[in-house]
Amino acid sequence: MQALEAHLQKGDVAAFVFEPLVLGAGGMLMYSPEVLDQLMALCKKYGALCIADEVMTGFGRTGKLFATLHCTEKPDIIALSKGLTGGMLPMALTTCTEAVYQAFYSDDKMKALFHGHSFTGNPLGCAVALASLDLLLAEETQYNIQRIVQRQADFMAKIKGHPLLEDCRQTGTILALEFKTDKQSGYFNNLRDRLYRFFLQRGLILRPLGNVVYVLPPYCITDPQLDQVYEGIEAALMGI
Ligand SMILES: Cc1ncc(COP(=O)(O)O)c(C=O)c1O
Repeated sequence: MQALEAHLQKGDVAAFVFEPLVLGAGGMLMYSPEVLDQLMALCKKYGALCIADEVMTGFGRTGKLFATLHCTEKPDIIALSKGLTGGMLPMALTTCTEAVYQAFYSDDKMKALFHGHSFTGNPLGCAVALASLDLLLAEETQYNIQRIVQRQADFMAKIKGHPLLEDCRQTGTILALEFKTDKQSGYFNNLRDRLYRFFLQRGLILRPLGNVVYVLPPYCITDPQLDQVYEGIEAALMGI
């Protein structure tokens, strides 16, 4: 907080860009909504825009529709992608508050946001996004999200404190297990290759981030399929 405030006090910070609650490629690092609330409140105090990258955390991943909904403070801009179309077609959105929109809305062309994507408003992408949103908001999917949250919590309780694990953490439907290592923990840790092959032999694609194994299932995953994932992880914990 002090480091952020020191930057903000210089008065030249335009925006604070963050992955809310979970840093994905950084190693599935998790932090609390309370901390994010404090960070956003500080930025707002100094007039810096809060830009939430909800590409990975959006559309139910953290148990709520968006990760920033766990917070009291609201971001000014949100980046969305992946879950927007369920990954079926490429489509992304950058949403913003009315205040940000109005800052660019003018008859004076010099105030325009001079940017456009090649595929802005692609009709097929939009159709898939609408269909995917219908599915996401359906009662069955909302039930499935909470079912997965509970299953992940139950599994975490079962393996937490295992001697091969440095840490075990969960945010909503995301479960991350950090294997102990005598090398640097993180993306480049070569335990990744052994873990990847081990799981693949059991019919599981888990794609570890270095020594961090994570389970980020599609919401249609069934309980028996989740069991298969958990059995694979328990087998790895017996010794890899
Ligand atoms: C947090 C986060 N932001 C941005 C991206 C990039 O998203 P896109 O490829 O849709 O631009 C990813 C992709 O993995 C991501 O996880």
